[in-house]
Amino acid sequence: MTTQTYENTLVCNYPLVEHNLSIIRDQKTTPERFRNAAKRLAYILLYEAYSNLPMKTIETQTPICTTKTQIIDPKADIIIAPILRAGLAFADVAAEILPEATIRHMGMYRNEETLKPVWYYNKTPQELKNPQNTYVYVLDPMLATGNSSIETINLFLEKGMREENLTFVNLIASPQGINNIRSRFKKIRIVTAHIDEGLNEKGYIIPGLGDAGDRLFNTFG
Ligand code: URA
Repeated sequence: MTTQTYENTLVCNYPLVEHNLSIIRDQKTTPERFRNAAKRLAYILLYEAYSNLPMKTIETQTPICTTKTQIIDPKADIIIAPILRAGLAFADVAAEILPEATIRHMGMYRNEETLKPVWYYNKTPQELKNPQNTYVYVLDPMLATGNSSIETINLFLEKGMREENLTFVNLIASPQGINNIRSRFKKIRIVTAHIDEGLNEKGYIIPGLGDAGDRLFNTFG
């Protein structure tokens, strides 16, 4: 973790991240190659994202002797919240490396005129059982305007969880998106692979990678 020009924002600019970003930005990259590179990026970003999980010390018997080991605190409620549909690029990896988590899909699309999110599916729980010990990981590859992320973040925070225990994981962020989120939430964590230049008039990230959902699912035209 090196660059940290925005508060509570981790930019994972490692060689492997840059290499795979180069693949997914290339318009000639096929959907299959795009998915594979996005998956490799998801592993790296999620290992960083999960670094805030609370730990508990236990006694473990090895074949040789007893020793103290660390596990993720079983009392922590962990929620993975992929924003449909591009967030699915990260969801399988997020659940694979943290099988204890609950997966709560969030469905919204962007109204292309207003750039505001429109809900069609909301799987947030009615209430959090243990709000002080709940850890949420919102997944959406593109942080563009930030509007859909803000909607999702609000749904969890209004249930009483701690702001610093919510992490937003994305591949590419725009400065406008980060500032939009930060103007409302000072403490949530953002983990990203890259902060790009900005947004075009249609709300797409420049240089970005185009429409992440279309590139993942091969839905052009
Ligand atoms: N969503 C995308 O898929 N790409 C962008 O550049 C912005 C929002």
